Amino acid sequence: MDLRITPVTPRFGVRIDGVDFATPPDDATASLLRRALARHGVLVFRAQRLTPEQLLAGAAALGDPQPQNYSQFNLPGFENIGVLDYRGEQTPADTWHTDSTNRECPPKATVLYALRVPSTGGDTSFADMRAAYRALPAATRHELDELESVNTFDGQFEVSARDDARFGTPVVHPLVRTHPETGEKALWFHVLKTAHLRGMTPRASRAFLERLLAEAIRPAFTYRHVWQAGDLVIVDNRSAMHKVHADYDRSEARVLHRVILAGDRPH
Ligand code: SIN
Repeated sequence: MDLRITPVTPRFGVRIDGVDFATPPDDATASLLRRALARHGVLVFRAQRLTPEQLLAGAAALGDPQPQNYSQFNLPGFENIGVLDYRGEQTPADTWHTDSTNRECPPKATVLYALRVPSTGGDTSFADMRAAYRALPAATRHELDELESVNTFDGQFEVSARDDARFGTPVVHPLVRTHPETGEKALWFHVLKTAHLRGMTPRASRAFLERLLAEAIRPAFTYRHVWQAGDLVIVDNRSAMHKVHADYDRSEARVLHRVILAGDRPH
């Protein structure tokens, strides 16, 4: 396979041409993609035309697809594909976050595949939380290294009894995690899924995390993806956060399929 890797910003995220996920990547390509994900944080593939089965098979080259948090939003018949469509009950996650911190082993990566996009807006931004961590003063980094978050469902949507039994037990995670493949540290949390930081009230925790995001994430650490139908974007949740720009006409269709890939216990 003739792969071309092109940076989408000077330091974070790459576009990869020459991969057609309609055929699952061979072992050598899959291994290259896994390394590229750990190194660059975000992988962008354009012009894919995938059935749900092909999306799952392609995603499986990078990791094991997992059930979604809110099974009511699953693609019917596909427990491991969530449908993101903000015309109904779902609302766009428009604040910086990493996915599914309510789990003991949160997903290492999220795969987003665009089927329909609005005429304008509805981009997704990604932030390099390794760079954000590195740019903080040493004293702040040491302080953050000691903090832990207590994570639960965020209370935004109804949770079925089955989803609650699988993913609803509060779990403690470090606020700074070390990437299991690169050894790099990154700021790592989900404000809405953080019930509180250990030793702080919920209110103080939220204010602390929101201030930290505002201070730590600089434009130079981000990549804003303008969607085209057929785009497939993979984000490494261990080192990057993302958010949706809810700046579009919400009566217009913006439909993405999401697959999350099994991760390990953060440390
Ligand atoms: C998400 O996983 O937060 C949704 C991303 C998107 O809709 O672009």
